[in-house]
Order: sequence, then C-alpha cells, then structure tokens
Amino acid sequence: MTQDEMKEKVAEAALTYVQDGSIVGVGTGSTANKFIDALAAMKDRIIGTVASSEATAERLRSHGIAVLELNDALKQVKQLSVYIDGADEFDGDNNLIKGGGGALTREKIIACASASFVCIVDASKQVKHLGAFPLPVEVIPMAESYVTGIANSLGGNTIRREGFITDNGNIILDLHGMVITDAPALEERFNHVPGVVTCGIFSHFSRKGDVVLMGTPTGVEVIEG
Ligand code: 5RP
Repeated sequence: MTQDEMKEKVAEAALTYVQDGSIVGVGTGSTANKFIDALAAMKDRIIGTVASSEATAERLRSHGIAVLELNDALKQVKQLSVYIDGADEFDGDNNLIKGGGGALTREKIIACASASFVCIVDASKQVKHLGAFPLPVEVIPMAESYVTGIANSLGGNTIRREGFITDNGNIILDLHGMVITDAPALEERFNHVPGVVTCGIFSHFSRKGDVVLMGTPTGVEVIEG
C-alpha cells in the first residue's frame, strides 16, 4: 500500500467516529483533505463542520459541505462531537507535533472545543520522541527576536518560516533539532512565553490524540491515548 492509500484508509476509518446530526471539526493537510473527500458521502447526515483553515473551508465548500464559524457552532452545541485531523509526529502517549501546514492555532482551538480528537496518520508519523520534525510555534511578529532567543535556549535551532503568514496574520518559527522527552512540560513552557500564540505540541495541556488511527501496509491500527 502506498502512503497515499494509507491516508485514504485512515480517512475512511475516521468516518465511523462521525455522529449523525453532529458538528464535526476538520483539520488541515493532505490527510485531512482525504477525510474531507470521504465526508462528502455523508454530508447530509451532519449539521455541518468547523474548519481549521481557509484552505480546509474552501475544500469543504467545494463538496457542498456546510461550514460554520466556531462561535456559531457553539451556540448550537456545547462541544463539537469530534475533531479529525492529521499530525506531523505522534509519540507513545499520543502527544503530537502539529503545524506543518501552519494551521496549528485554529487546529488547537477546535481540538479543545471537541469532545474527542481522532488523529489520522500514516505509519511514517510514529516516533519514540517528538522533535525530528521541526516544532512549529506561531508567534506575534513583533516578538520574533524575543521568542527566538527563548526557543534557542530550550535547545532549538530556530528558523523563521520564510514567506509564510498564518490565517491569523502571524509568523511561524520552526525549531529544528529538538529531542522532546517531556512533551507536556515543553508545551506548558511555551504557553508562558509572551508573544507565543500557540506551540505545535498537542499534549494533555491542550489536546492530545484521544485516538490515533495509523495507516500501515496491512491496514488501520487503532491506538487509544
Ligand atoms: C497542519 C497540520 C497537519 O495536520 C500536519 O502537517 C500533517 O499534514 P499531512 O496530513 O499533510 O501530513 O498540522 O497544520
């Protein structure tokens, strides 16, 4: 099975977590795109979706799937029933690195506003320790130098993502060369740095994967958090 086929399999498997009459949070990236394409087949059974990026909203609408603002959705329901999204890495506790596509802030907000987070990945995303994938951090532009200094002191080789501005008008710093043995502690540390909007670690301090559906050459593995 190719990597693309593994992504399709986990996207289809994620449909079983979508409840009739619910509002579904939808992530960003190539695996989330496969989920959007699969969701189109059951679009009439859900109220609608909340999108984690402009790109995702556009793809959902292209399939005729209703897209709601999160604020409007939460006037109708207390929580979204499920958030479905990919990840750049996941470890043995279902802690994640996200933000390769730069949508980490909206992704984290919607994941936290959902009753559960079903993470869909292919087997290449499984790691012992997070950090081989550069850790994205969304930063308010005027804080770039300050946050870069902090990030470097925490062991990162910090590089600004050139030519990229987030949907929220901010920049992304990518922290290369980190070996993250305590993902929650690092997420909490970044949560206290002024100028940081969101750190790309998703641990129990925000929302780790409640379930990871991992596509392997032989099928879909279900990994509970
Ligand atoms: C976007 C993300 C994506 O979930 C992550 O980059 C994985 O993307 P893909 O499914 O294309 O590998 O966090 O901000």
